[in-house]
Amino acid sequence: MIKGKKIAFYVTGGIAVYKAVDLMRELIKRGAEVRVAMTPSAGQFVTPLTFQVLSRRSVSVDTFSEEDPSVVNHINIADWADYAVIAPLSANTLAKLANGLADNFVTSALLATAKPIFAVPAMNANMYRNPITQENIRKLAERRVTLMKPDIGFLAEGYSGEGRYPEKERIISELELFIRSNQTELPLEGEKVIVTAGGTRERIDPVRYITNDSSGKMGHALAVEAWKQGAEVILVTASPLAVPSYIHTIRVESAQQMHEAVLEEFNDAAAVIMAAAVSDYTPETRETQKMKKKEDLTLRFKKNPDILKDLGTKKTAEQCLIGFAAETEELVSYAKQKLRDKHADLIVANDVSQSDRGFNSDQNEVTLLTKTDNPRTLTLRDKSEIAGEIISWLINYID
Ligand code: CTP
Repeated sequence: MIKGKKIAFYVTGGIAVYKAVDLMRELIKRGAEVRVAMTPSAGQFVTPLTFQVLSRRSVSVDTFSEEDPSVVNHINIADWADYAVIAPLSANTLAKLANGLADNFVTSALLATAKPIFAVPAMNANMYRNPITQENIRKLAERRVTLMKPDIGFLAEGYSGEGRYPEKERIISELELFIRSNQTELPLEGEKVIVTAGGTRERIDPVRYITNDSSGKMGHALAVEAWKQGAEVILVTASPLAVPSYIHTIRVESAQQMHEAVLEEFNDAAAVIMAAAVSDYTPETRETQKMKKKEDLTLRFKKNPDILKDLGTKKTAEQCLIGFAAETEELVSYAKQKLRDKHADLIVANDVSQSDRGFNSDQNEVTLLTKTDNPRTLTLRDKSEIAGEIISWLINYID
């Protein structure tokens, strides 16, 4: 969502300025083009040079130091940006924005901004709760400035309250939501996509289970990428990993529960992506009490439902089924067999015998197999990139 976006990053005075450095770096890491402007008060906490060195662009502070005579700098940054991000937003600048003041570079540029504005207020709890500040927040919200709610927590003043600068992960997640809601005509708009993730857990007794090495990272990355392209995403996950709040998530444990959850959502889904490592077997009986130690133990297992195969028999011509093939040998031939047997439209085959890819790793190398095209290998890269490629394939398929 953030990749390729031009972001005017405005920094105003407050102790949280040092945290804004990290946020700016994260935006750049995610592929945004960032130009920074600061108020003189922000410069009291962290110098413009820090932002300049890390963004590798000059930082604007003074409205009248027009270094490039061909443009008016504070208008130029406002027009250049796709989005304005203010972090942290102080009580003072918040009041100025609510009342249309333009007394420094930042407030002047923001008054000239016709693009969507996202702000991260951070201040003392009493300042935040002050009815004047609350009225200013309402005014800005009415003018379609998106303001995050600050965290409640330990403040620089040495006591707890509402006004704390939020964690970077929360800011990024809300910023992505904000950018998506400001975009028009995303390719998966109006399409429901079900994604499964993680290794299912099959209970033996109340404290023991069998599972596999799947972390759920690939499935969770797919859910995020599908959401970024406008899909209504239902993530059915057996993984304990955190999921951004904007993804509708159904937590399950066993293959049986995953099967039921997927079937419940399947009828009006445009696509199902079975990235979960579903256990093929489950204990024949589940003990209700913790099993006691014996000399030896034999467990009997019965077969679990094959969710993908079941969906393959139920799907309509318009529905797309994507499966994974986790293999340790003969990757392509086993994957081709799964494509046929399970009536899938795409099988993503990956080698799970190597530690730098596949299960539990942040990276993966996969081969995409369809009924019509030649196998296509996506060489070793981040799972989010692999997920992006798979979702691009899905967009073309649905088209
Ligand atoms: N799958 C499923 N239900 C199962 C087993 C697997 O839906 N009970 C799905 C997986 O989510 C994956 C695909 O089927 O998308 C292939 O899974 P994989 O574990 O590679 O293969 P299996 O079908 O279990 O066959 P085998 O273990 O013999 O390789």
